[in-house]
Amino acid sequence: LDDKPNPGEELPVTLWTLDPQILSEGRFLETGLSLLDSTETARYQRLLLSEARTLFAAAHILTRLVLSERYPAVSPRDWRFDANPHGKPFIPKGLLPDPPEFNLAHTPGLAILVIAPVPLGVDAENVRRQVRSMDSLARSFFSTLEAAELAALSEPARTQRFFEIWTLKEAYLKAGGIGIAEGLNHFHFRVRDESATIVFVDGRPAGDWWFRSLRLAPDWRAAVAVRAEGRPVSLSRSDSTPFVRQRLLEL
Ligand SMILES: CC(C)(COP(=O)(O)OP(=O)(O)OC[C@H]1O[C@@H](n2cnc3c(N)ncnc32)[C@H](O)[C@@H]1OP(=O)(O)O)[C@@H](O)C(=O)NCCC(=O)NCCS
Repeated sequence: LDDKPNPGEELPVTLWTLDPQILSEGRFLETGLSLLDSTETARYQRLLLSEARTLFAAAHILTRLVLSERYPAVSPRDWRFDANPHGKPFIPKGLLPDPPEFNLAHTPGLAILVIAPVPLGVDAENVRRQVRSMDSLARSFFSTLEAAELAALSEPARTQRFFEIWTLKEAYLKAGGIGIAEGLNHFHFRVRDESATIVFVDGRPAGDWWFRSLRLAPDWRAAVAVRAEGRPVSLSRSDSTPFVRQRLLEL
């Protein structure tokens, strides 16, 4: 299964969302948890809040089920994950000769997974989340231009724009797998509908990166960053809830 693209070839990027509430149905939580490995189980057990536990479980169950759907040679329990020095998970070589890249995010009410043949990142935020100090967060993490633009907006546009910028920045950082070490205020985004372009303050070209800013139902804002290196990207989106329900019933 060699998924690596040729130069100029369209990059297939898939995005799957899951409503974590599904785990409250029947024995789905128990069945789903039985798919996780010992590291995931220990992390799940360390989480104290039930909402955080459910979100974590949903994202990890989603990842294993979707990966096995895409790569049926590996069953959901058999996926192994490693992490880079900043904590970005990846699939080590071994199970597959050329494993895909993936990234996941969870936010109250939503788990989200992206898969592609090249490095990518995803972030999602519930826009109803209370953000007490939007302006000071913007001054700390956004570029001068972004912070000024945000300060000039009134609600509800301000909150929408805040999460649009926030998720794009997070998705970009997660794609690079570098956390916030690189700093967040030396670039900003030009957004037009769902397309976004990164602009580096130092004038560095942005050609490597492809972005989408997505409004998923009224409450969620998500962003995807793909290191496309100039290649066209085709993004397919799907609500995996019916698929996950079906798979958990079969297990
Ligand atoms: C580590 C980080 C990815 C956490 O982000 P988060 O918003 O708390 O969590 P998300 O739901 O988006 O993503 C969590 C998932 O990302 C993955 N992840 C963890 N570290 C990662 C990294 N360095 N790079 C990419 N992905 C990472 C994991 O799969 C994780 O899921 P898990 O904990 O269930 O295994 C990181 O971006 C961070 O700490 N950000 C700080 C927030 C901040 O200051 N943001 C400023 C934005 S303007």
